[in-house]
Amino acid sequence: MIVGVPQETIPGERRVALVPDLVPRLTGVGLEVVVQEGAGAPAGFLDLSYREKGARLEPEVLGASDILLKVQPPTAGEVGRIKEGAVLIGFLQPYTNVAGLKALAARKVTAFAMEFMPRITRAQSMDALSAMSTLAGYKAVLIAAGHLPKVFPLLMTAAGTLTPARAFVIGAGVAGLQAVGTAKRLGAVVEAYDTRPAVREQVESLGAKFVELALETKDAEARTGYATAQSEEFYQRQRELMATCVAAADVVITTALVPGKRAPVLITEEAVRGMRPGSVIVDLAAEQGGNCALTEPGQEVVRHGVIIAGPTNLASTVPYHASQMYARNVTSYLLHLFKEGGVRLDLTDELTRGPLVTHGGEVVHEAVKTLLQG
Ligand code: NAI
Repeated sequence: MIVGVPQETIPGERRVALVPDLVPRLTGVGLEVVVQEGAGAPAGFLDLSYREKGARLEPEVLGASDILLKVQPPTAGEVGRIKEGAVLIGFLQPYTNVAGLKALAARKVTAFAMEFMPRITRAQSMDALSAMSTLAGYKAVLIAAGHLPKVFPLLMTAAGTLTPARAFVIGAGVAGLQAVGTAKRLGAVVEAYDTRPAVREQVESLGAKFVELALETKDAEARTGYATAQSEEFYQRQRELMATCVAAADVVITTALVPGKRAPVLITEEAVRGMRPGSVIVDLAAEQGGNCALTEPGQEVVRHGVIIAGPTNLASTVPYHASQMYARNVTSYLLHLFKEGGVRLDLTDELTRGPLVTHGGEVVHEAVKTLLQG
């Protein structure tokens, strides 16, 4: 049975779904690993290294592979070249890529979306969203530091004392907590806010201050651990209460997301106007519409003297480590599914059922089916 690793073709994508060191884990269970020539090069992994670890290199892998490991969803052209009935594991952007999922179903592909991996202890080694969010949170702070016309740490020098930069992180999940930790390590004074009350302790354990807002948040966390959507009145009140923190900050990093929904707008144009010129907002929710009203996804813009960055694929800007982490996630998942020489669909298993989006010619995931009907 052939596991294929194609070159990613979406512009700007530098990650690869398998790194050489993990090839033996797949060949060890009897799988044949075929990597497209040059697939690892943008991330710093050479063809030679894959070959040394036991992979075969081919100019094209889509049509011959029984199992495909990918980072980005296949393009329409790629779907047409996938072998009918193949298994696909990758990020599939299931909430926004409905046409792509229908095409995969029509091709009878059994597709697993890494975005739907359940957040349970058993699946931690397969949690690709967390892996990528960690890198994004780190990189967001570096982007902010690169733009800010100030240094982050308190500096006491013969030429005078420089006060530390103030960073405010909105949304302290995986990316936000990494941003808090990175900004602290660079020496900033860091504050953070999240609607989920459990986050306070995590923020404080990193040495940052958790901002108290007079908002009712006891139902803000779903059983899945994710945030629940709030009413427009709630967000209105949150924007008003947070405006002073935003105005006081040199750097604002926003990461607030609600699964399957547009990201809540938490920073208005008026709040941007209230910030000091030269301040920086890095909006990690840009791809889901942005937490700042002025964010332009994929762009860096200056509005009212404030630099607003809306990066959309930060993990891909650290492709070596991002690939290393992602490859571990998808390899662990494939090995979980692979039993007695094939991919087994045990639908009583939460780890198999959760990420499964297409099978047997149909879209089978409930949330995606609801989207299709709507
Ligand atoms: P996410 O990327 O969906 O959202 C980011 C953060 O934004 C979350 O912390 C969320 O509470 C926050 N947020 C949403 N609306 C907000 C608002 N209006 N204002 C301020 N903040 C807002 O979430 P992420 O980071 O992927 O993970 C969230 C949860 O999943 C956490 O409870 C985390 O501990 C849990 N988790 C569990 C894992 C496991 O058990 N294996 C692994 C990774 C995460």
